[in-house]
Amino acid sequence: MSQKIIVTGGAGYIGSHTCVALIESGFDVVVFDNLSNSQIDSLDGVARITGTRPEFINVDCTDITALRSAFATHRDAVGVIHFAAFKAVGESVSNPLLYYRNNLGGLINVLDLMREFDVPNIVFSSSATVYGVPEKLPVTEQTPLQPATSPYGATKVMGENIIRDTVRAYPQISATLLRYFNPIGAHPSAEIGELPNGIPNNLMPYITQTAAGIREYLNVFGDDYDTPDGFCVRDYIDINDLARAHVAALRHMLSGATGVGVFNLGTGQGTSVMELIDAFRDATGVDLPYRIAPRRAGDVPAIWANCDLASRVLNWRAVVPLNETLASAWRWQKHVSGIK
Ligand code: NAD
Ligand code: WQD
Repeated sequence: MSQKIIVTGGAGYIGSHTCVALIESGFDVVVFDNLSNSQIDSLDGVARITGTRPEFINVDCTDITALRSAFATHRDAVGVIHFAAFKAVGESVSNPLLYYRNNLGGLINVLDLMREFDVPNIVFSSSATVYGVPEKLPVTEQTPLQPATSPYGATKVMGENIIRDTVRAYPQISATLLRYFNPIGAHPSAEIGELPNGIPNNLMPYITQTAAGIREYLNVFGDDYDTPDGFCVRDYIDINDLARAHVAALRHMLSGATGVGVFNLGTGQGTSVMELIDAFRDATGVDLPYRIAPRRAGDVPAIWANCDLASRVLNWRAVVPLNETLASAWRWQKHVSGIK
C-alpha cells in the first residue's frame, strides 16, 4: 500500500507541483487547502499530468475543529508537508496580525494534531528571507540568521523555532525545514503554474505578464547595487526541482532520520535581474520592455545558496537549466492568457 502524505496548501503554486512529484513517486496525496490564494483547478492540472487527482479537503488550518476532523479521516498519514501560509511581504507589513494568525496559528494547529494523531513527519516551507542581508555569500545552513525585516519573514523564523521546540518536546515527531530561495517556472506541460492575484510582487510573474502585454513594462528596481552589473542577485530555482526536494526530504525522514533537518534549496548560482531579462529573451525570443526604477525598500542586494548539504544528505540537487525554466514560465503564461 502506498504511504499517505497530507499536503496543506497543496492547491497553491509550490504545493501543486509537489503533489505531482509525490504522486509520481508513488505516494498517496491528500490536500488540505482553503483556496484563499489558489484555485481548485490546479488539482485538475495535477490529475491531467499524473492520471491521479489528489483527494481534496477544503479546510482552514487556523480552524482547529475543522482541521481535527480532516486529520481524523487521515490519521494513517505518514507525513505532512505544510505549505499553507500567506506570502506577500508588503501585505504582511500593513496587516501583520493576519500573517501571524494565519502562518503561525495554522502551523501550531498542524503540529498539535500531528501529535494527537501520531503523524510522525513534517516538512516546513521556510525561506531564504531568514538570512536577511547575509555577510558572506553563498549562504550555508550555518550562516547566522538575521532579525526578520517583515512580519512575513518573522513568521518563517518563528515557524522554524516553534518546530524545533516541538520536536525537542515530542521526539516522536521529525521535521525538515526547507529554506527556499526564489522558486520560478511551471510544470513543462503548462497544466499548472503560478497564479498571482492582481499585480505581481515577484519578478518572474511580472516578467511573463509584461511579455504577454498585461503590464506595459517591467520596473527594474535599482541598477546601482554593489554587485557585478549593479543589479540585485538572486538564486532562481526551478519549481519542479524544488518540488522533488520535498519528496527527498520525506524519504530521508521515512528511512529513519530523526530530529530537525535544515536545508537550503537553490541552484547555487546567483543571477542578476538583468541577466534574467537577457536569459528570458534567449529562451523565449521575447524582448522585454523595461525601465530602471528606484531601489525597492528592503531589498537584499545579493543572495544565493550553497546547497551542498541537500546534495550530500538528501541526494537532491537542482538539475533543470535556467533556459528551460524560463521557457516553462512563458508557456504557462501563454496558456493562462490564451496566447498561441
Ligand atoms: P501559494 O499562495 O500559491 O500557496 C499557499 C496555499 O496555501 C494556497 O493554496 C492557499 O490557498 C493556502 N492557504 C493559505 N492559508 C491557508 C490556511 N489557513 N488554511 C488552508 N490553506 C491555506 O504560495 P506558494 O508560493 O505555493 O508558497 C507555499 C509556501 O512556501 C508558503 O508557506 C510560502 O510562505 C513558502 N515560500 C514561498 C516562496 C515563494 O517565492 N513562492 C519562497 C519561500 C517560501
Ligand atoms: C527578485 C528580484 C527585485 C519585481 C521575495 C520575498 C521572499 C520570498 C521570495 C517567500 C529583486 C527585483 C522584482 C519587479 C524587479 N518569498 N524585481 N522588478 O525579493 O528575492 O523575495 O519573494 O518567502 O521572502 O521577499 O523576490 O521576485 O520579489 O524579487 O526588479 O517588478 O527582482 O528587486 O532584486 P525576492 P522578488
